[in-house]
Amino acid sequence: MLKHLLLTGAAGGVGQAIRPLLKTMAATVGAADIVPVGALRPHVTYQACELADRDAVSRLIEGVDGILHLGGISVEQPFDAILQANILGTYNLFEGARHHGRPRIIFASSNHVVGFYRRDERVDASAPPRPDSLYGVSKVFGESLASLYFDKFGQECLSLRIGSCFPQPKNPRMLATWLAVEDLADLCACAFSVPRLGHTIIYGMSDNDEVWWDNRAAAFLGWKPQRSSSRWRDEILAATNEDPADPAVIYQGGGFAGSGHPED
Ligand SMILES: NC(=O)c1ccc[n+]([C@@H]2O[C@H](COP(=O)([O-])OP(=O)(O)OC[C@H]3O[C@@H](n4cnc5c(N)ncnc54)[C@H](O)[C@@H]3O)[C@@H](O)[C@H]2O)c1
Repeated sequence: MLKHLLLTGAAGGVGQAIRPLLKTMAATVGAADIVPVGALRPHVTYQACELADRDAVSRLIEGVDGILHLGGISVEQPFDAILQANILGTYNLFEGARHHGRPRIIFASSNHVVGFYRRDERVDASAPPRPDSLYGVSKVFGESLASLYFDKFGQECLSLRIGSCFPQPKNPRMLATWLAVEDLADLCACAFSVPRLGHTIIYGMSDNDEVWWDNRAAAFLGWKPQRSSSRWRDEILAATNEDPADPAVIYQGGGFAGSGHPED
């Protein structure tokens, strides 16, 4: 069990959903965000922090022995916003970790790192990135930083290419990409407790029927997702009429692959 876990992005969708599940993983949790995180359990403290502020991020990491880095821009946005939160912010986080005893990091990367692979292709962690957005490019940056910081400084990290972590799948794409938050929490527990993590890349999906991603290279983590999108399958397919020629349907990244430049 961790002594003190830093959770960035604690006010976000995933941050709110996973907070109650961290109790068995860490004695205390520092819940950081630029906005208030809401009601707190006794073992959780709120820390206001702008990820682009290097000194503030460094202070967050003092006394921490594990980091779940969810904070940042989570959709396609103009480049300057992504630059501050995802590129500078992630750099600040890794630098803070390097200077404060190298606590293990779980970095919330994204399936949008490989969003321009087609849905009829199968990709593993060794596939070259094919980002579908500026947002996806920022996650490629984060994974590259994680690779550098492990090879050069021994900073261990799980680059977790989250599929779709929501209470339930909402469309046919999410039948393949859905990740139940309980499965995410189990994966975090595996990543924090495995004897050697190195820099590992894994796709974050539950035990869904339709599978685009191959996690065999990360089998040593011992993670076995227990939930599946299958119970929503019939309902979702009955309510959907997709155009197979639409780029948002052809590519794994969905609407991110189909959208234009965010500043046009
Ligand atoms: N939810 C998913 O399905 C999904 C899929 C792929 C990747 N991810 C990644 O997982 C993480 C969490 O996703 P989410 O759905 O909870 O996103 P979210 O947008 O709901 O939450 C992100 C949080 O980060 C905070 N944040 C943004 N910019 C910040 C800054 N400059 N400084 C400090 N905090 C800042 C926001 O206030 C917000 O609370 C994100 O990094 C996202 O890119 C999520």
